[in-house]
Amino acid sequence: MNVDKATTISNDNLAKEILRLKKEKGAVIMAHYYQRGEIQDLADYIGDSLALAQIASKIDAPIIVLCGVHFMGETAKILCPDKKVLVPDMSAGCSLADSCPASEFEKFVKAHPDHTVISYVNTSAAVKALTDVVVTSGNAKEIVESFPADEKIIFGPDRNLGNYINSATGRSMLLWDGACHVHEQFSLEKIIELKKQHSKALLLVHPECKKPLQLLADKVGSTAVLLKYAGEVDAKEFIVATESGILHEMRKKYPDKTFIPAPVEDAECACNDCSYMKLNTLKKLYDCLLNESPEIVVDADISERARKPILKMLELSEKIKK
Ligand code: 13P
Ligand code: SF4
Repeated sequence: MNVDKATTISNDNLAKEILRLKKEKGAVIMAHYYQRGEIQDLADYIGDSLALAQIASKIDAPIIVLCGVHFMGETAKILCPDKKVLVPDMSAGCSLADSCPASEFEKFVKAHPDHTVISYVNTSAAVKALTDVVVTSGNAKEIVESFPADEKIIFGPDRNLGNYINSATGRSMLLWDGACHVHEQFSLEKIIELKKQHSKALLLVHPECKKPLQLLADKVGSTAVLLKYAGEVDAKEFIVATESGILHEMRKKYPDKTFIPAPVEDAECACNDCSYMKLNTLKKLYDCLLNESPEIVVDADISERARKPILKMLELSEKIKK
């Protein structure tokens, strides 16, 4: 038997066992668009960071398995303190969240006591506890705009998303100097070259990417916004500058369209894969459901303080939609 066939068979069996365990335990599986395709295919819900938080706030199940990175599991646990929130791999971190240690962020906040603190969801619970409103890339611009034009604002931790909002709104928010190692890897020169070869392709860019790439984009937006846009426009070809996991759902949803992953600086590395997101595998998902571990635990005091800015985000998001 060749290795590919053996892997497929064992993945099929794992998938069946995961679905069986899920039913037996009344668990719900949620997955971010950057998860491996086989995990997205098994999930009850897939979405961007905003959708996952919105869904978690309404979920009615004793166990939530959050297939994503640690801060996403924390957000779900903070919103559902009475539920068991599991993540397949506890070491699935985030370079952006890591670029903003709570102790350093606290000093920054204390140095600007007259500022409202807006934090991206890609932060630890401890950073959220220092925050007035949490945002995701799906609602950041609109939430910032919901504050008066002269509001003094600290925005952290992503400098590219912060600069994008400053440019789009004419604000001058004070920015934390953090970034995501995946979204900063895309090569402007190679993308310009690729656009020449695919002259009709539209360029889709996540706001965590650097400014020159944002300026070249046909659409800048969160994962869900880019996915929706690709379905709405007439174009048949797209160059996608965000984590490669989103290509799975794009190709599934729009099989008659072509999605090309944007090239990165180092052709040898698979840098448009988030190594943290890809730590989750079917086998780890199976083990996690079977053992009900690893489980997310958030300090009660931090959780209480972090819940307020997350709920504020959900409330503002609802208002923005109306
Ligand atoms: P969104 O889910 O808001 O598009 O964010 C992307 C991301 O980097 C998640 O880690
Ligand atoms: Fe964090 Fe970047 Fe991975 Fe998203 S893609 S989880 S921001 S390291």
